[in-house]
Amino acid sequence: MTAKEYPLAPAIRMAEIEPFHVMEMMAQAAQLEQQGRPIIHMEVGEPDFDTAEPIVKAGITALQNGHTHYTQATGRIELKQAISDWYQQQHQTTVPTERIQITVGASGALQMTFWALLDPGDEVLLADPGYPCNQNFVRLAGGIPVSLPTEAESGWRVTPELITAALTNKTRALLLASPNNPTGTVMSRAEMTAIATLCADHGIALIVDEIYSGLTYGVPDFSAVELTENPSAGRFVINSFSKYFGMTGWRLGWMVCPESFVRPLEKLAQNLFIAPPTAAQFAGEAAFKPQTISILEQRREAFQERRDLLLSALRGLGFHILATPDGAFYLFADITGFGVSSGELCKRLLNQAGVAITPGIDFSHRLANDYVRFAYTTDLEQIERAIAKIAPALKSLD
Ligand SMILES: Cc1ncc(COP(=O)(O)O)c(C=O)c1O
Repeated sequence: MTAKEYPLAPAIRMAEIEPFHVMEMMAQAAQLEQQGRPIIHMEVGEPDFDTAEPIVKAGITALQNGHTHYTQATGRIELKQAISDWYQQQHQTTVPTERIQITVGASGALQMTFWALLDPGDEVLLADPGYPCNQNFVRLAGGIPVSLPTEAESGWRVTPELITAALTNKTRALLLASPNNPTGTVMSRAEMTAIATLCADHGIALIVDEIYSGLTYGVPDFSAVELTENPSAGRFVINSFSKYFGMTGWRLGWMVCPESFVRPLEKLAQNLFIAPPTAAQFAGEAAFKPQTISILEQRREAFQERRDLLLSALRGLGFHILATPDGAFYLFADITGFGVSSGELCKRLLNQAGVAITPGIDFSHRLANDYVRFAYTTDLEQIERAIAKIAPALKSLD
């Protein structure tokens, strides 16, 4: 019998899942590169630095020593201990290893959290603009994403007023990222405390994505683990080795969860992933060693220099960036002065200037046409070159 052609439609839920536009921008840039065009990459949300040598060596040694098998579903105890020690050292907070779960990136942690937390129709409050995949994670877990519209004028801050206005009897959780992608906004201890209290008062979970922690410039690097009162309350703190630790490709992250979620999350990890990547976990332990941290701190300083250069150059070119972003490695710029849509501007800058950036659509439907995101994940020389190429491309819009 020969195989017959027949139509096979994707599941209905796929109609709601949006593409991650930056990945499509990267694909267009790669196509131009294949045709021999040099492209300056300012679209990619990952450090240009390769993983620091001590981390790489620890990964290689683990593989050579035969650590090529599964680990416990929630990760190796040695890595959990290293993370707990890191919280003690950086945030003067004791986080028991039992509440730490090692995950497949922050992506794995976010998905597990929503699967463990949401019943069908539960609402999750998300900052707008924000990291696009979260809406899709919420939808896949049967929840409903609800946007909190933040404004440039207030430094893109999520306030108790915004949260209160969005609360309904279906609200189950609030997700915040600090520092935030794409705005670089860093929340203070006072802000986070007020919001944590509000969430506790309404019995909703507070999920804090701290994937850009460590990448703050001149402001305190507060972590929500420092909110130690009632530690078994509904607070999930998510982090990753991808950004500060420069390990995007190793696919490793972690979360600190409430006591009542330790077992549910463990069951999910067993089923969904079996275990996080083993060699990455050994490598991750080396990420906290003083010799690694000194390399990472130099990189952090480099990011700060890049931010300063790019921010003043973009402002000079007519991009509006009201508040100075204090963290992550992005600038979210208002382009309404140029009289074209964000998608059109991104296309022009890619094709005419050879500079790849991300259109606003990835981060906000509300602001899709009016904003673009620049990632300063490229060195100072490249940033200067990019600015020199963008200037004439903008003139041609007149
Ligand atoms: C805010 C935020 N959260 C989560 C992620 C996912 O990161 P990963 O899975 O590499 O840890 C990203 C990636 O860019 C991000 O920007």
